[in-house]
Amino acid sequence: MAKGLQPVQGMSDLSGGELRLWQGMEATARRVFAAHGFSELRTPLLEDVSLFTRAVGETTSVVRKEMYDFEKGHLHLALRPEGTAGVIRHASTVGAQEAAGARWFYIGPMFRHERPQAGRRRQFHQAGVECLAPPSPRTDAEILSLQVDLLRAWGIEARARVNTRGAAGDHVAVAAGLKEALAPHRAALCADCQRRMDENVLRVLDCKNPACGEIVAGLPPVTTWMGDEAKAYFAETLRLLGVLGVEADVSPLLVRGLDYYEHTIWEITGATGAQDALAGGGRYRMDLGGEEWCGVGFAIGLERVAGLLAATGKADAVAVPPAKLAWLVGMGPAAEERLFRTMRAWRADGIPCRMGEGSLKKQMRQADKAGAAYAVLCGDAELAAGTLVVKDMASGEQRALPEAEARATLRSLLA
Ligand code: HAM
Repeated sequence: MAKGLQPVQGMSDLSGGELRLWQGMEATARRVFAAHGFSELRTPLLEDVSLFTRAVGETTSVVRKEMYDFEKGHLHLALRPEGTAGVIRHASTVGAQEAAGARWFYIGPMFRHERPQAGRRRQFHQAGVECLAPPSPRTDAEILSLQVDLLRAWGIEARARVNTRGAAGDHVAVAAGLKEALAPHRAALCADCQRRMDENVLRVLDCKNPACGEIVAGLPPVTTWMGDEAKAYFAETLRLLGVLGVEADVSPLLVRGLDYYEHTIWEITGATGAQDALAGGGRYRMDLGGEEWCGVGFAIGLERVAGLLAATGKADAVAVPPAKLAWLVGMGPAAEERLFRTMRAWRADGIPCRMGEGSLKKQMRQADKAGAAYAVLCGDAELAAGTLVVKDMASGEQRALPEAEARATLRSLLA
């Protein structure tokens, strides 16, 4: 058989049972987000490239290496590599007054040109939230607890690794301190990290190279170079996480790979191997051309959550059940025409139903293949009596019912 066209490398179709798991995950996320006062925001998948260079940071690997960007006409566009920048662009579009205090969630695809492997895709999906609120340990603790609660609603118990990036005013001192601490090791760092030391030293802390990782592990915590305000903010956030009963481990060298963060940041790791960051988030401050925006949020990688649920046998509990369907089977032209009419009326009544064509045997095979829960049969005898035969496809049990009763029965079973 000829091999059909494949999706682009690192991108996948979703269908059948796998899609039902995603639909279940999304339904749970919507319920949990609504319970926390968030409403949905859908922003375009394409934005002007300058949004991401400004918001996420020109020297981050997401922007430098992974963004899909292209020129079309006089525009330089990028497929969104993450969701936060677009949400803040929307806030700026609607204006500060309307956006103040907004709580938005999003569920949708993001694009990063990374080397595809298990759990790392070029089109992947995030469920995320952004809460546009000024710095407040209480809000940070609330949003981290929301993330933990959503994972729990999916059946995943996870601990967050948390740290602080310090107040905006600490960033220069932290960078200088890190540079000084790394200076004696400069020659042993990879070429990328040697460049990072001059461009954006924080990025050395995310380097995947094992030799760099060893040097980084010996560095003092980043709080060493922070002022009292940032330390007090972090201590209060940890205390409030304790008040909520949210378990978190302080990870003194966690900085996260995006430049917009300040104060609280976190990551949640699953237990499925190398690509196992299930989620990441934190508080941020973004300057989009003169306007400054503050917020706190997170994004969860849905491929990674789906993979973890499948690997731990929890997918069925989250997936939506397969849709139930009645299959109308007519024997003879007059019966078929009656059922053709019936099908339209039943559908208007919310009863999911379909009809095939051909011999009785063929129609029953079609019903079986479609996974129909019930077959509804009509031949000359049923036409004359004004009845229909309703057959339970699983048990084989069947009953002749007056048409109105058949309709009411199927409505209660399927609608
Ligand atoms: P991020 O850590 O870059 O943060 O991504 C969040 C999550 O998206 C990751 O933990 C991971 O589960 C998933 N993810 C990232 N890249 C891939 C990939 N190539 N394939 C599969 N999954 C992936 C952000 O995007 C921030 N915008 C989060 C945030 C929101 N911070 C504040 N508000």
